Amino acid sequence: MSTAIIIGARRPSFVVNHAALPEAFRISPRRIPNEYYPTPPEATRALLSVEQFEGSIWEPACGEGAIASVLIAAGHKVVSTDLVDYGFGIAGVDFLKETRPRARHIVTNPPYGSGLADAFITKSLGFAAETGGSVAMLLNLASLAHRTRTSWWRAHPPARLYAIDDVVCWPTHRYGPAPSHFTKHRYFWAVWIPNHQGPSAFWWLSSAEFRQRQSFPKNNNKRR
Ligand SMILES: C[S@@+](CC[C@H](N)C(=O)[O-])C[C@H]1O[C@@H](n2cnc3c(N)ncnc32)[C@H](O)[C@@H]1O
Repeated sequence: MSTAIIIGARRPSFVVNHAALPEAFRISPRRIPNEYYPTPPEATRALLSVEQFEGSIWEPACGEGAIASVLIAAGHKVVSTDLVDYGFGIAGVDFLKETRPRARHIVTNPPYGSGLADAFITKSLGFAAETGGSVAMLLNLASLAHRTRTSWWRAHPPARLYAIDDVVCWPTHRYGPAPSHFTKHRYFWAVWIPNHQGPSAFWWLSSAEFRQRQSFPKNNNKRR
């Protein structure tokens, strides 16, 4: 299998031939190589304030470990892999070609371009069906209300959706400050749990509450 377009009807130009991807790929000149957009730690801390993961977690697109490090600091056992070698975790692992789950849960901010996020979600849900674990993905808010995805969301509703404010996933340490158009992106965590049916619960997370914080308060003012 070399293509990975899962959700909705896509133009042929959106189809990614993963077998043909060089080790450092660039989906368009405007995109960072390898779709490397690291997650600020406050986004993962905020997730951990409202979600619990019992058992091991797989971060299958770990990059430099921005998510994995927060999970580890919170006491989780984490398996970190990535297609590209960023000096963290196990490099050279194409998640889309993996055949067995490496941990019970999957938590990541996946690569987005050209249907990669769609492919990561579908692959993750398949593994979670095997392990009985959860899947948590940091995604672009625009993808939640997109005509090519509406029917897919209805068929695979996350148990919970968390909009998170003021998160900028940009590798400033590599490329300098994020361009202004990029800072306008908004994100949400989608959390799938086994056997969930029906509507998704929705809540709001404040990244500022977790920017400096090293602890993991278990409420974030969420009503249960
Ligand atoms: C948006 S970045 C996020 C990195 C990390 N999850 C974080 O939150 O900081 C996406 C990552 O996906 C990795 N990646 C891209 N395609 C992949 C694939 N097929 N398998 C595994 N990792 C991949 C890239 O190398 C990059 O590190």
